[in-house]
Amino acid sequence: MDKIIILDMGGQYAHLLARRVRQLGVYSEILPSDTPVSILKKAKGIIISGGPDSVYEKGSPQCDPRLFTLKIPILGLCYGHQIMAHYMGGKVLPGKTKEYGLASLDVRKKAGLFAGLSAQETIWMSHGDSVANAPPGFSVTGSTSDCPIAAMADSSRNYYGVQFHPEVTHTRHGMKILSNFVVNICKARKSWSMKNFIENKVKEIQKEVGNRNVLLLISGGVDSTVCFALLNKALGTKRVYGLHIDNGFVRTDESKNVEKAFRKLGWNNFHAVDSSKDFLNAVKGVADPEKKRKIIGETFIRVQQQEVAKLKLDTKKWMLGQGTIYPDTIETKGTRHADLIKTHHNRVDLVQDMIKKGLVTEPIKELYKDEVRELGERLGLPKHLVWRHPFPGPGLAVRCLCVGRPELLENEDDIDRRAGLICAKYGATAKVMPVKSVGVQGDARTYRHPLIVSKINDYRQLEKMSTELTNKIKEINRVILSVGAKGSLNNASVLQNSFLTKERLDLLRKADDVVNSHLDRKMYTRIWQFPVVLAPLSFSGGESIILRPVESKEAMTANWAHLPEDVLKSISKELLAIKGIDAVFYDVTNKPPGTIEWE
Ligand code: XMP
Repeated sequence: MDKIIILDMGGQYAHLLARRVRQLGVYSEILPSDTPVSILKKAKGIIISGGPDSVYEKGSPQCDPRLFTLKIPILGLCYGHQIMAHYMGGKVLPGKTKEYGLASLDVRKKAGLFAGLSAQETIWMSHGDSVANAPPGFSVTGSTSDCPIAAMADSSRNYYGVQFHPEVTHTRHGMKILSNFVVNICKARKSWSMKNFIENKVKEIQKEVGNRNVLLLISGGVDSTVCFALLNKALGTKRVYGLHIDNGFVRTDESKNVEKAFRKLGWNNFHAVDSSKDFLNAVKGVADPEKKRKIIGETFIRVQQQEVAKLKLDTKKWMLGQGTIYPDTIETKGTRHADLIKTHHNRVDLVQDMIKKGLVTEPIKELYKDEVRELGERLGLPKHLVWRHPFPGPGLAVRCLCVGRPELLENEDDIDRRAGLICAKYGATAKVMPVKSVGVQGDARTYRHPLIVSKINDYRQLEKMSTELTNKIKEINRVILSVGAKGSLNNASVLQNSFLTKERLDLLRKADDVVNSHLDRKMYTRIWQFPVVLAPLSFSGGESIILRPVESKEAMTANWAHLPEDVLKSISKELLAIKGIDAVFYDVTNKPPGTIEWE
């Protein structure tokens, strides 16, 4: 089978690239950055991915330099573009402006990689360094206002480099660019499909599991439901057992609803257990997001072990199943050079140890959410289950910000001043907040402050302002719009000793219910996911709610979703009527630089 090899330089999107190539119907594989040319030469084409490092940094991922002596088409993306320039005699320097988000590409040559494109193309950037000089033999084929060598090519040798990311959906004609490379330049034949995936996976599961059985942790979300259906198909319901754990961080009535939906599908090979007290005890007094994630992940395994003991299952005959999908792995530093963005609940050390011992099966771990949904539909699952909004394993625990002793924000006035200058151009004001959330910038994790901005009505202007703020003010990774507050924004204080308690979680559940009741079917479909976040930011004794609706395709990148003004107003009014809620904010940050969840 013709294949395209993705050389993984540690970028967040390396696997997404493989997914995109498979979407074109061509088989693709991800291999480590330094894979020797003896293996690489079997490919029809090679794509060098992005990565979090600088090419000159000691220890940064490198590739076999003989790669550039092979007569195979090569496409370098972001870090891959830079490494190509570096190896072939060009020059890479730290960019004057770091670029994160949408940019406009001036296409100089509408041929080869850019065949069929317009003179101006919307592209997605996420980088600090830039190519300052193209190598000999290369010509510059595209530029943006901040990046003069945004694309370069040596078409005689079929070498192409682009600073942006064609693999993310925000690059409008990204798939066209990849198709130009894979199909026209590499001339790879199309022989990969989801139908083949199911046939091969069923055989693979039967082989991997052997004569054992599988106990699968089911949250009732899309991934675990599809995984359960696939395992039932491969092994039969007698050899598969589902365990739904209520960890206390689920939405109102979630466990009841999951049980009802599964029984309706005729699945009786599962049971639900309420372990909320165990989880709440385990995270008592913990504020750090990574610590919370790790504790929750390990508690899942401990509860599962208790249940196995109760069911008197012979552990030698059972293995653990998980509905892990690819973003869970990549964000948990799943590949050698990738940065740790956040530890997903199914990637904690206890699970990693079990994986090493061959005790875990994860049949959909290579797939992205949109592929999982396609698989679910092919397996005959109802649309309302397959198209549910994603919900993270640690649930509301990562949507409930915790603070022990509030930290002082040292250069607060200076940040406000610099942000204020940018906001003034748009007729807005700014105020940095003394809490923090997780973000991803230039493929690396950040843990920085949100900036509150005053309301501006034009969403396009807001989009521009938000990108400019996160690009230029390094202390922040999010921009949130003030929608309503009981008190002056200048009088914000952080409530100390705000941890994960049933009371705070109930307050968040109430707010979450309000938001969900406002989403009609059309909006639910348009919005990919709608986290509602509780932050101990107080304006008159209570806390704040942050609305985080996003549009995405596979969660690796996302845009903040534009909520209609009347819906926003109505949600805010109802939220502010809840006792204990002081303010409502609307997160207007894309991913990158913010992640979808706040923690
Ligand atoms: P972020 O916040 O990193 O999230 O942009 C990307 C997607 O992953 C979901 N998510 C998780 N899913 N276990 C999961 O099963 C986890 O620990 C976890 N953390 C984040 C998140 O909701 C979004 O859809």
